[in-house]
Amino acid sequence: MKVLKSGSQLLFALLLATAISGCSKVSTPGSNAYVPTAADATATATLADLQSGRTLFINNCDRCHNLPVPENYTPAQWRTILPNMTNRAGLSASEITLLTKYVTRGK
Ligand code: HEC
Repeated sequence: MKVLKSGSQLLFALLLATAISGCSKVSTPGSNAYVPTAADATATATLADLQSGRTLFINNCDRCHNLPVPENYTPAQWRTILPNMTNRAGLSASEITLLTKYVTRGK
């Protein structure tokens, strides 16, 4: 009984820590996709663009392989890789624009 209680306290502490840090990794296991903040917005990518792009990325890019880590590729590399992948994922032109903004952090 005591073990069970401290176990649930640990779980609660973990959930609380997750809620405080705003980390969304819990809801998307295995995802290292960064969560954009206002600081990531650029002249060409609003925070809303980046957030939509993240959702598209998470929902479409782990079907055939694990979700890639955006920061593992430079914006130039993404521009080479993405046409092939967005084609396979069956995304529309506007979805591709948002997803590209997300993985390149608007660069
Ligand atoms: C229909 C299957 C499929 C979907 C959907 C898919 N991929 Fe891929 N992806 C692959 C395959 C297969 C490879 C291995 C390399 C190749 O065949 O081009 C790959 C490789 C990659 C690589 C590594 C490329 C490299 O040169 O190191 C990245 C990054 C990547 N995909 C990103 C994405 C992103 C982002 C999406 C979502 C838009 C996506 N993939 C959706 C099949 C897919």
